[in-house]
Amino acid sequence: MSLFATKSLARIIRESEEGEHQLKRTLGAWHLIALGIGAIIGAGLFVRTAAAIAERAGASVTLAFIVAGIGCAFAGLCYAEFASMIPIAGSAYTYSYATMGELVAWIIGWDLVLEYAVGAATVAIAWSEYFNKVLEFVGLNVPYQWCHSPWESLQGAGAIHGIMNVPAIVILLILSILLARGTQESAFVNSLIVITKVTIVLMVIFIGWGFMNPANHTPYIPEPTTFTTSEGITHPFGGIMGILGAAGVVFFAFIGFDAVSTAAQETINPKRDMPIGILGSLVVCTLLYVVFSHVLSGVATVEDFRTAGKEASVAFAITKYMTGYAWLAKFVTVAILGGFSSVILVMLMGQSRVFFSMSKDGLVPAIFSDVHPKYKTPYKSNMLFFFLTAAFAGFIPGDIVGEMTSIGTLFAFMLVCAGVWIMRVRRPDIARGFTVPALPVVAVLGIFVCGSMVYGLGWTNWLRLLVWLLIGFVIYFGYSRTHSRLVTHPEKP
Ligand code: ALA
Repeated sequence: MSLFATKSLARIIRESEEGEHQLKRTLGAWHLIALGIGAIIGAGLFVRTAAAIAERAGASVTLAFIVAGIGCAFAGLCYAEFASMIPIAGSAYTYSYATMGELVAWIIGWDLVLEYAVGAATVAIAWSEYFNKVLEFVGLNVPYQWCHSPWESLQGAGAIHGIMNVPAIVILLILSILLARGTQESAFVNSLIVITKVTIVLMVIFIGWGFMNPANHTPYIPEPTTFTTSEGITHPFGGIMGILGAAGVVFFAFIGFDAVSTAAQETINPKRDMPIGILGSLVVCTLLYVVFSHVLSGVATVEDFRTAGKEASVAFAITKYMTGYAWLAKFVTVAILGGFSSVILVMLMGQSRVFFSMSKDGLVPAIFSDVHPKYKTPYKSNMLFFFLTAAFAGFIPGDIVGEMTSIGTLFAFMLVCAGVWIMRVRRPDIARGFTVPALPVVAVLGIFVCGSMVYGLGWTNWLRLLVWLLIGFVIYFGYSRTHSRLVTHPEKP
């Protein structure tokens, strides 16, 4: 069979409707926006923003958010057209199977593991940092070595090395079990958390505004120089390259709006509600991010974010500079734990849904599409992904998994932009609930803006992406190619 064999749309939709591997349709537009915001606001804003300020761009992190937001808007439009055309589970993976063939679909599906599973691990690491802060408020703490990876160490006298990030693993376990119990309850809990998260962001903006120090915003774009991370990696700081690198880092904060599209098979009216869910959640978050990062970079100094303020950065900045608001630091720290949990939940859900589709297509083993008889969830897949995410969260630093998530997702977005364009040329006849305006222009700009963030992330990340894709090729040619349903159940003419 050709590497570029595509799966017909009629077949994709028919197969999604047959068999016992069925998901329930329960979600509406508001659920989707809530699902989107639930996935979007999280570690990207509350942890990665500080890393971008410290290591890449200083105050010009706000411009980085704008670049990342623009890239997401272009890719989001393309996602929305795809989602309205192919209203079933699977996200970019399913879309590319219908347009660019099995090999590209595999590459995207495999790449989405970086976005969802490795992304969930990144947020779990952030959860662990804020959890430790909560313990500090009551005079306790998890010893350094049990809440950091073996690659991290505490500087200073008698350096302590990390062993394993235990809190990160525990939260992943709890949420994997919750997810295996069912989507609907999770979506309800998620709505409550979304309200809390937006409230925290607004409170920090309104109260923090008065504590900004203009010196921290001068110069707004730092002079171009370089910065060497604690892992010994040197990359540009300041100038245009600093902004592009920072955009690649904070791009993490936008990841998740596309997770909405993975819930298409559980949406009552996907054609209408998908574009609303995807674009609505994106617009709300972009506005909040730019203002929030302006306030955060104005309250504390770059040096703060490079040292003590690296972990649980927002709580740190409030405690150190916003006198009289200790209660706010406590509130943010406790509430954000719930916020991070909802992000992890949606990412784990997106991950199991993508592998659900890939499993039904025969590209990964059938165990990933076994549905629980009562809860109707892919519970075995949930548990298997617990082990994978725990391995990343427990043993790799947050900076590295965070940037791997960003680069993997950016790459998937570029392929989606190309895919929607190819599909318009090849199959203009298929009905679309939503069409991208000014198409080749939007797709090309999406590829260009996302590509420039990939460029900004630097060669260590390019290398990691390459190694990840090579592992994927080994699995594809060793297993998936021969087990594909296109081979085992060829379509009769
Ligand atoms: N966008 C999500 C976050 O910031 C992944 O945590």
